[in-house]
Amino acid sequence: MDLPNFTFPFPPFNIDIMSNTYQFGMIGLGVMGRNFLLNMADHGYKVIGFDKDATKTAALESSATAGTTVKGVGTLKEMIELLETPRKIMMLVPAGKPVDDVIESLLPLVQEGDIIIDGGNSHFTDTLRRVSYLQEKKLHFTGMGVSGGEEGARKGPSIMPGGDAAAYPHIKPMLEAVSAKVNGEPCVAYMGKGAAGHYVKMVHNGIEYAIMQLLSEVYDILHRGGGLSNDELHEVFKQWNEGELQSFLVEITADIFTQPDDKTSNRLVDMILDKAGSKGTGKWTSQDALNLPVPIPVIDMAVAMRTISSFKEERMSAAALYQPVAKAIGTKKDLLIKQTHDALYFATIMCYAQGLAMLHSAATELDMQIPLEDVVKIWRGGCIIRSGLLETFYKAYRKNKTLPNILLDKGVAKLVKKKERNLRALLKTTLQSKIPAGGLMSSLAYFDAYTSAVMPVNLIQAQRDYFGAHTYQRTDIDGVFHTNWNH
Ligand code: 6PG
Repeated sequence: MDLPNFTFPFPPFNIDIMSNTYQFGMIGLGVMGRNFLLNMADHGYKVIGFDKDATKTAALESSATAGTTVKGVGTLKEMIELLETPRKIMMLVPAGKPVDDVIESLLPLVQEGDIIIDGGNSHFTDTLRRVSYLQEKKLHFTGMGVSGGEEGARKGPSIMPGGDAAAYPHIKPMLEAVSAKVNGEPCVAYMGKGAAGHYVKMVHNGIEYAIMQLLSEVYDILHRGGGLSNDELHEVFKQWNEGELQSFLVEITADIFTQPDDKTSNRLVDMILDKAGSKGTGKWTSQDALNLPVPIPVIDMAVAMRTISSFKEERMSAAALYQPVAKAIGTKKDLLIKQTHDALYFATIMCYAQGLAMLHSAATELDMQIPLEDVVKIWRGGCIIRSGLLETFYKAYRKNKTLPNILLDKGVAKLVKKKERNLRALLKTTLQSKIPAGGLMSSLAYFDAYTSAVMPVNLIQAQRDYFGAHTYQRTDIDGVFHTNWNH
């Protein structure tokens, strides 16, 4: 993003404005930046925003709540002059080069001790680099995840700040004020050292991808396999949202089925092309899970399915060649709905388990010191993956802060065990029906492997030693062994 030093046609700088000091500045007034800033103003903070697009700056002021102090400015210099020190300057601009460009434009203007916050979905390695770069210049840099979409930003997101611990006390009261609240507790907490804020947000998005994949599979099973209409699907998801599956994603899914199309007489969902987009955070989660390493197969599958969906033309050729005909699932409707409910519940727990296990490992492997208890606490409200289940996980981490995997918690184990049978039953019929259910299947494969005291990798060790003398350990004697196999 280039930031031309143009002057927005705004009332000229005057004494009255000069005497004002603003408490928080925002760079990038797209809908997320604008909403976040307006939210802050609604909580009594005097805020100031800048965007290189003058129409966005104007939209900021015109959409402010009456009685709040919201100012749009046409240059960064003006913003810097009007902010109280230490300055709190947040940016919500596209990840990558735009973030570096904003930082470079700020450097000649800011002073020691000022706090620069990146609230976008930046890759954590970029954040790590920026933290040290700005530390050298005696500036604070906070990589901060913000979740909740447009509405969340306006009414209360879940906020995941990390990085410079010295900066956090300065921004904590403001972030607590604007965040979502659950039982009166703010959905914001310090997520740990370095790039922890962006790392936690990345994994949040990985879990988001996985749950969305499961929801799409469950929709397919009930719709193509069980013959449920959009109205029936709406009812099923609505009811699920009132029970143990309560979550933001289930809630919006229920809504989606009733949305009419304004161009045809169909429901909109039936008119949307089956090609999923993505901005990369799911892929980043999978990539880093491989590096740690931590297995997150449901998230990996979700990323893969979005990619497969994008090969629409190839899929159509393959469909013509193999002619798979999705067969109806014979199970009675009520039973199918029950099995699907339990399968979704089971598999959703696996998504959180994998993401949280990844954070557990990153906390030490990447020296981020991520407090898992606080992660699940602040995910209970405001964010896209908020759900009733997070309350259960919060209890589990309060009992044991260092739990490596939530599947090891007795309370969680009880829930999982109750649903396992129906997931297996559902997958049997789904496999026969040819409806792809990779997310559900990999959740079970993960569970079966993770809960196996014995795995067949003794054979893999034998093969490695056979062809490459890679050695193996024995079950009965300590040490490392090699055999001259019979070849
Ligand atoms: C959130 C969302 C938000 C964004 C996703 C979309 O927490 O508010 O996760 O960050 O909507 O990044 O990601 P894809 O475009 O990759 O699906």
